[in-house]
Amino acid sequence: MSQIFCSFLVVVSVLTSAVLCRDTLGLPDGYINLTTANFDAEIVRNAQVLASLKPAGGTFDFLPFDYLSLRAKNGQYHGGDITFRYRTSGSTTWITGDSSRSRKKVTALSTGALAASGLTPTLPTGPLNITREWINVSGDLGLQFTIVNSGYSAIEIGSLGFPAEFNSIFTNRQAIDISRLCSLSDPYIGMHAGQIRVAPTSGDGPALVVTPLGDTPMEAYRNLEETYYDDTAYGSQVFEGFYEWQVLSKAWAENEWAGKEPWNEPSSRTLQPGGSLKFGLRFSVAKGGVRDLDSTVRGIGMPVAHGVPGYIIPRGTAADLFLQGWSAVNSITVKPTGALASDSTGNGHYTVTPSRSAWGRVRLTVAYADGKVQTIHYYVTKPGTEAIANLGQSLTTDQWFTNTSDPFGRAPSVMTYDYEARSILQQDSRAWVAGLSDEAGAGSFLAACMKQAAHPNAGQIMKLESFIDGVLWKTIQTFDFAVRKSTFFYEPDAVPGYTYDSSMDWSSWTSWNKASAYTPDRAYDYVHVAAAYWGLYRAGRAYPSLIKSHTWDWYLNQSYSTIIRAMQDDIAYNQDGLMGETVFGEILTDLTREGLSSQAQALTAAMKSRADQWNTEAVPFGSEMAWDSTGQEGVYYWSKYFGYTSTVTKTVNSVLGYMPTVPHWGWNGNARRYWDNIYGGKLRRIERQIHHYGSGLNALVLLSAFRSNPSDSYLLRVGYGGTSGPVSSINQDGFAAASFHSWPDTLKWDGFSGDYGPNFVGLVLGTRTYVVQDSDVGLVAYGGVLTSSGTSVSVQTADPVRRIFIGPLGVLITVDAGIINNFRYVPGTCAISITLSQLSDVPVAANAVLWVESTTGTRNHSVATAGITTTRLGWQIPLSSASVTVQLT
Ligand SMILES: *[C@@H]1O[C@H](CO)[C@@H](O)[C@H](O)[C@H]1NC(C)=O
Ligand SMILES: *[C@@H]1O[C@H](CO)[C@@H](O)[C@H](O)[C@H]1NC(C)=O
Ligand SMILES: *[C@@H]1O[C@H](CO)[C@@H](O)[C@H](O)[C@H]1NC(C)=O
Ligand SMILES: *[C@@H]1O[C@H](CO)[C@@H](O)[C@H](O)[C@H]1NC(C)=O
Ligand SMILES: *[C@@H]1O[C@H](CO)[C@@H](O)[C@H](O)[C@H]1NC(C)=O
Ligand SMILES: *[C@@H]1O[C@H](CO)[C@@H](O)[C@H](O)[C@H]1NC(C)=O
Repeated sequence: MSQIFCSFLVVVSVLTSAVLCRDTLGLPDGYINLTTANFDAEIVRNAQVLASLKPAGGTFDFLPFDYLSLRAKNGQYHGGDITFRYRTSGSTTWITGDSSRSRKKVTALSTGALAASGLTPTLPTGPLNITREWINVSGDLGLQFTIVNSGYSAIEIGSLGFPAEFNSIFTNRQAIDISRLCSLSDPYIGMHAGQIRVAPTSGDGPALVVTPLGDTPMEAYRNLEETYYDDTAYGSQVFEGFYEWQVLSKAWAENEWAGKEPWNEPSSRTLQPGGSLKFGLRFSVAKGGVRDLDSTVRGIGMPVAHGVPGYIIPRGTAADLFLQGWSAVNSITVKPTGALASDSTGNGHYTVTPSRSAWGRVRLTVAYADGKVQTIHYYVTKPGTEAIANLGQSLTTDQWFTNTSDPFGRAPSVMTYDYEARSILQQDSRAWVAGLSDEAGAGSFLAACMKQAAHPNAGQIMKLESFIDGVLWKTIQTFDFAVRKSTFFYEPDAVPGYTYDSSMDWSSWTSWNKASAYTPDRAYDYVHVAAAYWGLYRAGRAYPSLIKSHTWDWYLNQSYSTIIRAMQDDIAYNQDGLMGETVFGEILTDLTREGLSSQAQALTAAMKSRADQWNTEAVPFGSEMAWDSTGQEGVYYWSKYFGYTSTVTKTVNSVLGYMPTVPHWGWNGNARRYWDNIYGGKLRRIERQIHHYGSGLNALVLLSAFRSNPSDSYLLRVGYGGTSGPVSSINQDGFAAASFHSWPDTLKWDGFSGDYGPNFVGLVLGTRTYVVQDSDVGLVAYGGVLTSSGTSVSVQTADPVRRIFIGPLGVLITVDAGIINNFRYVPGTCAISITLSQLSDVPVAANAVLWVESTTGTRNHSVATAGITTTRLGWQIPLSSASVTVQLT
């Protein structure tokens, strides 16, 4: 969230210092064009760093060439720069080198490369003599460094990094230009299989991938510090900042990163006097765009791994791993030892099974016969339903706030929690975080209520009903359904006798006074409230005895009325796509199923006017922020609903532009988010966030698009990575953190629950057991275990929600009570048989309503079991025994 990122910019701009604002790149001397079969590149003549990189014959530049004059100062990094730390053997002190710090014109050399230079002038004096060459690698562009020890003693190199600059500078650009010009990049920190994947923000057109040349593993991926200047705003909401490909990282691991668990084993290399080492990177184009990245990587001889269902996997369930390298596998090792078992079934297929006690990060290291080493990074969770049960328990006990003397009227409620302090966060200088609204304050009650829609619990619902009557429908909301921005505020005179924590800084714009906090003008906040009511509606409708304060129709009407209120003219941002608003679609579906047609019509009309508007816009993904990944979900949902197909395609592409797939749990399906720690985190900084709510919510777009087009398995691969993100956030005590900190000096989950809630909304609405006929690896299940007998296919579900989608038949099957435990289908006849059962820690329902939807329009299935009646546009299935099997034809 946040309205006012510019006040953040103002604070840091004081760092700008005139003396540093000098072009040291030597731009007036011009450029050298480097042309290969696949690229038109330009380097700066004087500094020989990369200035422009376009696929051959194209106009799209992956580099910010247009901003180069703003990035010509010392300390501003470019492709071709090098950073290192070394020490003479026996010494303990690391000496730093960095080609950007004090730039001088490099010495042009003639080596037969496209361009070559000696870096001595631009590096501190020392024994390492470094030559840089831009080379033609089979028509791709290569960047190669030769490092010679020209001294008289052995040297240990403990850090070596290659800065990576791409055009992710959104500063002072219009949305349409960001979409036209910019790119986003993400790493695969996988040693010799390491990559940087770069995609245009539009998600459309060729993508770029950087891979190792020779023995250049990606051991770590380090955020680069640069001075902040107003004209580009490095390290802000409009410019996340850059990173470097780190080949060696021991010198950092020993110092700045001490005590952290790095992705790979930190290493150093020793160079004898007169000895030399070569390292390099290769730039390749995926002409077919992001879907073509794997085949591009494979095509240049690098190993590729493809995990199903991805790399966040539950204990007790076997996952698939397809290793598609060129060289034989010599060995596979696992750290922690025994956490995963990998069994080869031939042809590069492995079954990967977490042990019963495994939990958390696990690294699988594959050693190939050709000497390459690839690391694949897994995260083992508890079984999905158990993780969700733990979450529900933790939210309604540890996070349950009961002090009814609270002058802000917050009790009883599920409040934001500080897991590191093991306490409820009763105060925060960002009012909303302690104020039960905005994503970071509403997140916890939102998750608790949504949990009831999937797996209800009587005790939890009793508490949540008391929250709804005592706080939600009293203090968070006013009686006209308006939703306040915060119930907590900073205004000592308004709460006489209340003590604000004097260690907090209450002077910022975030410490709203009562009037500001109570202003109900932020449309985003309405989604959380509508979803909370809907969670109780769903639970109460399926398990009528669980709700006592109101009947199910009251909850549904509250959620409907909250949406309608959000759409009135006095509410800001209601013409933007809102995070979590897929739930508006669920509410519309339920109004229709309940026969509440006038409400359904009013809601449809309100959504249609938005979709009409978006369909006229080149870039309809507006937000309260200058660039965002929050609008796409709502734009996709309603554009699809109303049949605006070109907007639908544009939206799916846009999501694919900021959601990569790589064999690492942290980045696979991890939607771009990088500023919300400022607005909801405990550790407040601009940083690539791992599995913040963008993952669960943007996955809704890709999973829905996949259901409509089940042959596009790439959508499922990325989408399932995203929808698994919110499971990885739930720790062994059931606490769910808002995101994981990716910077190597931290590598841990944030301490606050913050804005986790919307991520969980994505999980509840998107997670299923998905069967796919994958174009790459064949028939597989994501979230379940599939066995194929030749004539029929059987699947045991293991996803957190236990609902199903059968890709080859284009059929989505949902129940409102209990779970789909397993199913079987016959590809030849399209007959389906599903077995319903109930979880042991969830109340027993007498009936389940079963909905069957054809997502591809090819065939409508109906229940064939005798004696089943229809209800609410579905079938009512008596759950008369522990397990009930239903036939569909
Ligand atoms: C170098 O490339 C740029 C951009 O493609 C082009 O405008 C320029 O004419 C080229 N210069 C030479 C000398 O080929
Ligand atoms: C560094 O390497 C370059 C290129 O091989 C060479 O010309 C130069 O003499 C070397 N400098 C030193 C100090 O060894
Ligand atoms: C680059 O290398 C390829 C093959 O490796 C060769 O066909 C091509 O002519 C080279 N191009 C240049 C510009 O050197
Ligand atoms: C409950 O809140 C009141 C008002 O802030 C405070 O004075 C009191 O100490 C709190 N009680 C507990 C048990 O924390
Ligand atoms: C439903 O909500 C509307 C406001 O949208 C309200 O006027 C009406 O009384 C509510 N109906 C019920 C049954 O609660
Ligand atoms: C499936 O049902 C829908 C709604 O009743 C209908 O419009 C559609 O034509 C049916 N499709 C097929 C393939 O029978």
